[in-house]
Formats: sequence, structure tokens, C-alpha cells
Amino acid sequence: MFVNYIFVSELFMFFTVNGQACEKLVSLPATQPVLRYDFNYTIQDVIIELVNPNNNPIFRVSCFETCSSAEYLNSTLASTGDITTGKFHIKLDSFGDGQQGNYRFRAPGWEKVVSKCINLYMLGTPSPSTISANSEPYEGGTVKLTCHSISTTDPPGHDLVMSYTWTKDGTNLTSGGRFILLPNTAATLTLNDVQRNGPDNIAFNSTGVSLALSDGDRFSPVACLADCKPSCTFRWTKGQIYVTSSAVLDIGIVGSDDQGIYTCTGTHSIYTTYTNTKNYSVIVLCKL
Ligand SMILES: *[C@@H]1O[C@H](CO)[C@@H](O)[C@H](O)[C@H]1NC(C)=O
Ligand SMILES: *[C@@H]1O[C@H](CO)[C@@H](O)[C@H](O)[C@H]1NC(C)=O
Ligand SMILES: *[C@@H]1O[C@H](CO)[C@@H](O)[C@H](O)[C@H]1NC(C)=O
Ligand SMILES: *[C@@H]1O[C@H](CO)[C@@H](O)[C@H](O)[C@H]1NC(C)=O
Ligand SMILES: *[C@@H]1O[C@H](CO)[C@@H](O)[C@H](O)[C@H]1NC(C)=O
Repeated sequence: MFVNYIFVSELFMFFTVNGQACEKLVSLPATQPVLRYDFNYTIQDVIIELVNPNNNPIFRVSCFETCSSAEYLNSTLASTGDITTGKFHIKLDSFGDGQQGNYRFRAPGWEKVVSKCINLYMLGTPSPSTISANSEPYEGGTVKLTCHSISTTDPPGHDLVMSYTWTKDGTNLTSGGRFILLPNTAATLTLNDVQRNGPDNIAFNSTGVSLALSDGDRFSPVACLADCKPSCTFRWTKGQIYVTSSAVLDIGIVGSDDQGIYTCTGTHSIYTTYTNTKNYSVIVLCKL
């Protein structure tokens, strides 16, 4: 009885995790995660096994003078492993849904005594991100943008922290100048001295800003252009009269009524509306 007690307490010392948290291992689906346990092989006369989250053994080995007779189920020994020296590095054949969870290396017969436990997490793809602003940006102001996404990494409790990347026109942003990224995670981007992009440099694709043509002539369409980011919308008016909500002015066959000053208005309206205008004159010469 006494001898038994000593044996139990020895095993307990060697095999318990002593209140330590389980090791964390994160792996993508369809990979082959390796569960590592470096066993002190000077301890003899034990059978060590690795059980999956359903409590089914997937690896078993006997250690007497040395460790040998390893058996594997849906697993193999990883290249870093070595059974004889107690390096039980067990590679899963596959990693799919249902295989995430708590794995334990243990000694059967001493089920309550855990040798090593590993929580294997399945890394999820982050959900599509959303961006929110703390206020409406205005020219010269400051705005703080927050990016948010959820990870489906399973099971919960992995303590992984989501980090974000911001790009502007396809280029990754770093802190500096007018931009401040939250350290480490970059979850927020603070934009100082907000600048608008357009409508600037409003122009026409024609040569010149006026055209003289005769009654009955075919008018060559004139497109209105501007530097805008995001893109502008355009409309043409003639005095107070609406002509078209297209960038292209096309009068068709001109008549004397078509003479006048046509105004192109470029509009850019994210949060605040900015417009810019330019005039195009049409002179219609009467045929005698
Ligand atoms: C392995 O166990 C023996 C006792 O059996 C101990 O003396 C030795 O320090 C242990 N080695 C390690 C690396 O823990
Ligand atoms: C081993 O793999 C087979 C086929 O995928 C599966 O049916 C079986 O449940 C697996 N066994 C264990 C213990 O994981
Ligand atoms: C931009 O950031 C992403 C994500 O961090 C990274 O994978 C990519 O290599 C970066 N691109 C450049 C050009 O630095
Ligand atoms: C201007 O653009 C319009 C619409 O795309 C086109 O019909 C017209 O031919 C262009 N004019 C010139 C001079 O390129
Ligand atoms: C455009 O023409 C209108 C008259 O239709 C005039 O009031 C306005 O000042 C002109 N704009 C420019 C920029 O010349």
C-alpha cells in the first residue's frame, strides 16, 4: 500500500501539468499540425498515448528501458520526432472540422494524471471587414476610422488578436505624416488634416471652350472631365434649364434655339458636396 502511494505521487509529479494552462497550437484547416511532447524517457514502465478531443487514442507507445512499439492512427511521427529518445512529435494526417479541440498525452491507468495537454485551434478566415468613422470627415479636420472583422477561429479562447492592414490606392499605409495607425493591431486609422480630392481641373475633351456652327449642323459631343476621387457625377445646364445628367453634352442637329452658354457641373458628394463648374459656349450662325 505504501509502495503504491509512493508510485502514485511520483507519477503525479512527473505527469501533471501542475496547474499550467494547456499549450496552444493554431493551425489552418487542411494542414498537418504536429502535437509535440518531449517525454522524460528515464521514467520507465509506462505506456503513453495521445488522445484526440473525442478521447480516442491516435498514438500509443511503450516505454521500458527505451520507448518502442509505437502505434499510430490517422497520424505519423513528424520529422523532428524520435520515439527512442521520447520526442513524441505526432503529425496528424489531416486537419478538418471536428478535429479541433483538446488533445492530451497521457499514461493509461492514470487517467486523472495528465502528461501534457494541447489545445488545437482551427484558424478561421476573418469575416469581411467593415469600416466606421467616428465623425463625418470635413476638409482640414481629423477623422478616426475603425476596421472591424470577426475571426471564426475555433474553439474560442485562443487569445489571438486580429490585426489589420490599411491601404490607400493599393499601397499599404504606415504611421507617419497625416496618418496614425493604432500600434500593433492597426485597428484604427486616424487621418489628420483631411483633404478632399476634387472636383479639380474641370475641362472638356474639345479644343477650346466655345464652338460656332451653322443652323442645321451636327454638333460634336463634348465630354466634361475633372480630377475627382472618388469619381464625380456631372450634369449640364443652360442657364436655369436642365440639359442632361451625363458628362457628355450632345445637342444633335443645332437650331438657333440651341445658342447659349452651357455649364458643366462636376459633383463629388461623400459626406459633403463639392462642386465645380465650367462654361461652354455654343454660337449658332443663321443661314441666310
Ligand atoms: C527525468 O527524470 C529523472 C528522474 O527519473 C530526473 O532526474 C531528470 O532530471 C528528468 N529530466 C528532465 C529533463 O526533466
Ligand atoms: C481515423 O480516420 C478515419 C477516416 O477519416 C475516421 O473514420 C476515424 O474516425 C479516425 N479515427 C480517429 C481515432 O480519429
Ligand atoms: C501589405 O500588407 C499585407 C498584409 O500585412 C502584406 O501581406 C503585404 O505583403 C503588404 N504589401 C507590401 C507591398 O508591403
Ligand atoms: C469627346 O467625348 C465624346 C463622348 O465620349 C465623344 O463623342 C467625342 O468624340 C469626344 N471629342 C473629342 C474631340 O475627342
Ligand atoms: C458661366 O455662365 C454663366 C451664365 O450662364 C455665368 O453666370 C457664370 O459666371 C459663368 N461662369 C464662369 C466660370 O465663367
